[in-house]
Amino acid sequence: MPKMLPEAKLKIFLDLVSTATQEELVWINGYLNGMVAASAPKPITPATEKSSVEKITIVYGTETGNSKRLATDFANKIKQKGIHPKVVGLDQYRLTDLPKEEYLLAVISTQGEGDPPDAARKFYDHIHNNGFKLEKLKYSVLALGDTSYPLYCKAGEDVDNQLNKLGGKRIAPIGKCDVDYDLEANAWFSNVLTSLTTIAVPKPAPVASPTPAVAAKPAGKKIYTGTVLTNINLNDRGSLKETHHIEIAADELQYVAGDSIGIVPENPLHIVEEILTLTGIDRNKKLEHKKETYTVFDLLHKKLSIIFLTQRLVQAYGKIVGQTIPETRMDLLDLLKIYPVKDAAQFEEVLKILNGISPRLYTVASSPVAHDGEVHITVAKDIYAIDNEIRLGLCSNYLNAFEVGANLNFFVQANKHFRLPAPEKDTIMIGPGTGIAGFRSFLAERDATGATGRNWLFFGEQHFTSDFLYQTEIQNWYETGVLNKVNLAFSRDQKEKIYVQHRMLEHAAELYTWIEGGATLFISGNKERMSVDVEKTILQIIEEQGKKSKEEAKTYLEILEEAGRYEKDVY
Ligand SMILES: Cc1cc2nc3c(=O)[nH]c(=O)nc-3n(C[C@H](O)[C@H](O)[C@H](O)COP(=O)(O)OP(=O)(O)OC[C@H]3O[C@@H](n4cnc5c(N)ncnc54)[C@H](O)[C@@H]3O)c2cc1C
Ligand SMILES: Cc1cc2nc3c(=O)[nH]c(=O)nc-3n(C[C@H](O)[C@H](O)[C@H](O)COP(=O)(O)O)c2cc1C
Repeated sequence: MPKMLPEAKLKIFLDLVSTATQEELVWINGYLNGMVAASAPKPITPATEKSSVEKITIVYGTETGNSKRLATDFANKIKQKGIHPKVVGLDQYRLTDLPKEEYLLAVISTQGEGDPPDAARKFYDHIHNNGFKLEKLKYSVLALGDTSYPLYCKAGEDVDNQLNKLGGKRIAPIGKCDVDYDLEANAWFSNVLTSLTTIAVPKPAPVASPTPAVAAKPAGKKIYTGTVLTNINLNDRGSLKETHHIEIAADELQYVAGDSIGIVPENPLHIVEEILTLTGIDRNKKLEHKKETYTVFDLLHKKLSIIFLTQRLVQAYGKIVGQTIPETRMDLLDLLKIYPVKDAAQFEEVLKILNGISPRLYTVASSPVAHDGEVHITVAKDIYAIDNEIRLGLCSNYLNAFEVGANLNFFVQANKHFRLPAPEKDTIMIGPGTGIAGFRSFLAERDATGATGRNWLFFGEQHFTSDFLYQTEIQNWYETGVLNKVNLAFSRDQKEKIYVQHRMLEHAAELYTWIEGGATLFISGNKERMSVDVEKTILQIIEEQGKKSKEEAKTYLEILEEAGRYEKDVY
């Protein structure tokens, strides 16, 4: 044994490897390779090491682009091994190709409450619903997730298990990555490469289904206990909206403009009380949840998700109460009313199947430089209707009712892909509604640091008089020259609807000049409609102003994105 390690470290190392299972050894190998690769500029394995595998398909299912970035990066690295990768998003993937695949790498994140990203839904349902076999398939899955969520990397785990059930053979164990995914992702990829480059006659790695024990969840995020300093409604009388500006002070607070904070809401007391009454369960009875003991009351109030249960949970509830329930999502209270439990003991069985409450993210609206020791958020009250009955979003309602002086727990969620450029670079910020939060953060930071780059803001809401969020600050920044240009779109102040994208088109030539001059484009706020329409408009502007074809405009925007000059924080 070479004396690379001092005695004490050597003992720890030997203890670890001598007691590790084979799958743990595979993982340790990958992890170390990944660490070396991350710290060294050279390729992970020597470029001369070629594989007998010629083709491989890399699919990705993404919501915010991380899985796509990794899939593209792996494809570039895999080419160095003489393997030809095909990279395709799961929304574009032809399901009829699946039985023909020989080697498949799937990089997929988890969204919602343990769900696949929308773009991967078709693929996810297909492999779960269809009774077919994938006997040719050799595969591996890289699951992206976040340990703050109760169902960590669930969608990736499901895909991994399901491909295995259909007859696929794993060439490397599933990799599970937390938000800071580089190290784990490299470890997984290193295992995949080792497996591919040692395949003469393809032989699957001897891997059991669950993640190796050593790949346990990384330590959780730092939880801050903050004090609410301010909680005000930014909308004026007559508005259809309620958007709260909440300021929170906390000790040793660390975040960067562009980050979000995560908050785990509590369930409304009146619902908890109704559930206790309906089920007759003893509120003080102690039960175990995730290796901790809680009273039934605390479990229902602070720990378990009781609203909008997933279809899978609704079906599991049906089994416990012995009833057939249609495939639907429902609140626990509604289930209990329509399909009651027999007794308190049966309700205890129900409590065991419920998931934890997921955190909700809120984009930071403050700057650590301008608002020392504080973090601010902009929270829109979520209002929706079920059967004509008005309901309120859990977390937004919980936050909006927060008293000044009360304590609030939160964690900081870094967002590396939503960052201000160098101080001398220009920015174009498109953020209607609560999308303004991140730009208040950016502008406060640029103001406080004296950044010289120009800033252009597009903001929109329903009405000028009642919904111009942060109006005074925006006007001040404009007057003092922090903001060079502001364009506003109040959709309901005239007959025809005017949105931010209409304002962008009115300034298309100048916008294109800014982009060509090196400005970074940011979009923040509503994803489903706003960000899609705004992106279409950006493409139209590039196409028309740059005299480019549709394809060229798309490539142009992709290049901007790769260079970190087109960043989105949408939800
Ligand atoms: C990166 C990021 C940044 C964000 N930044 C902000 C921000 O700055 N400001 C902001 O306001 N929000 C922001 N959000 C959104 C925020 O995290 C929450 O999603 C939002 O506040 C709604 O959460 P909620 O708990 O109030 O609603 P939930 O209770 O989670 O409900 C959300 C939706 O689920 C559906 N739903 C829930 N229950 C039922 C049911 N029983 N039946 C039918 N449908 C149901 C409804 O459509 C409802 O609107 C951000 C999200 C992300 C991912
Ligand atoms: C609204 C929301 C819900 C999420 N739900 C989960 C979850 O249930 N489990 C999990 O492990 N990660 C969850 N995540 C974290 C994402 O999987 C993680 O941020 C991942 O890096 C995103 O990768 P993508 O950009 O490829 O979609 C969630 C993220 C968001 C924004």
